[in-house]
Amino acid sequence: ALPVARTIAELRETVSGWRRQGFSVGFVPTMGALHDGHLSLVRAAIERTDKVVASVFVNPTQFAAHEDLGTYPRQEARDAELLAGAGCELMYAPAVEEMYPAGATTRIDVGGPAAGLEGAFRPQMFGGVALVVAKLFNQVQPDVAVFGEKDWQQLMVVRRLVRDLDIPVEIVGMPTARDGHGLALSSRNAYLSAAELETARRLNGVLAEAGARAAAGEAVQAVEADAADALLGAGFDVVDYVAIRRAEDLAPFERIIDGPARILAAARVGRTRLIDNLAV
Ligand code: PAJ
Repeated sequence: ALPVARTIAELRETVSGWRRQGFSVGFVPTMGALHDGHLSLVRAAIERTDKVVASVFVNPTQFAAHEDLGTYPRQEARDAELLAGAGCELMYAPAVEEMYPAGATTRIDVGGPAAGLEGAFRPQMFGGVALVVAKLFNQVQPDVAVFGEKDWQQLMVVRRLVRDLDIPVEIVGMPTARDGHGLALSSRNAYLSAAELETARRLNGVLAEAGARAAAGEAVQAVEADAADALLGAGFDVVDYVAIRRAEDLAPFERIIDGPARILAAARVGRTRLIDNLAV
């Protein structure tokens, strides 16, 4: 069975043993309920480093009070089996009290790529992500950490975080793993009914078509508006945003794309909120 560290001390004991033997260390942070997307990150870490640790921690500081912290899927025994099968050698699954002991008050003020999009609809999220990722990096002290492009804005926030706080880790981003219909794999897909799944599977195609139009020189505002309408037509109940932005800093374009671009969207079907993004 996969060894599980529950405390920072247990984690450091294993990782420092690896270090003494001269092994490099890769790290994949997750909130569990693992799927093939997460496992592709583990495999990418294994390709790049000698020993890989994955964390499973549903981080309360990145959830708002009305969000799904309480019902977020938890299946740690299965997660451990999947991680072991993928070649991960340690699962780090601390309790909330280990990560946030009473009296911990420090917060991270993000900004830059964290402003707007997810940051507008979930104002607490990137501060919470930055806090837990910075703590995890200090706890694990990996050489390489792997994140998914599925959460493109998060990946940009993490790149900025390590740059701004001088954290000595290489950040690797990996492409989004999808089902046979283009739907990005997500732990939250488990919430979807059969009818909602049909709608969810339309998201990627709508974004691909909109991205192609923007790449062909159409005005981004018109393309964004048409894509939002198409999502509502496909059965989404609410479109939080469809946005074509500069890929690196997520700044808006004036009218026409004139550099590396990404199309990003968040939309709700039933009680499930889905996000996706593609290179334009
Ligand atoms: P979680 O949603 O569990 O995702 C963990 C990692 O898996 C993230 O880097 C995410 O981008 C990646 N991922 C999710 N779905 C993917 C897919 N279909 N293809 C490829 N990669 C995918 O993101 C978080 O957790 C948290 O915010 C965390 C970074 C762990 C901080 O709490």
